[in-house]
Amino acid sequence: MKVFLIGASKSQAEQMIAEDTIHQIDLDGQIIALVRQKDEFFAFQSTCPHRGASLLRGDLDAGIIRCSLHGYSFDLKSGEVQLGLCSALETYSVELTEEGLKISVPNE
Ligand code: FES
Repeated sequence: MKVFLIGASKSQAEQMIAEDTIHQIDLDGQIIALVRQKDEFFAFQSTCPHRGASLLRGDLDAGIIRCSLHGYSFDLKSGEVQLGLCSALETYSVELTEEGLKISVPNE
């Protein structure tokens, strides 16, 4: 497991990640998506598990992302498919700490 730190403090991380926006984050060459909704952060694969469209252009709802290509939707926390038939979205553990936002991704 690799752990990445976004920002140098809790408040800096909160300032860097605007609410209800899909951010593209490069973690040593692995591109992931990061979303903040109120006080919750969600990190997940940036491509759709259905046919690989970019989820950076997806639509956000409360705790849900909807792919812009065929409209499949996924739970941001669990990655579970809400609408559509495909594998689940890969999600990553996120923790807001005093040192910044920690994102844990499995080793490839
Ligand atoms: S590629 Fe995302 S729903 Fe088909």
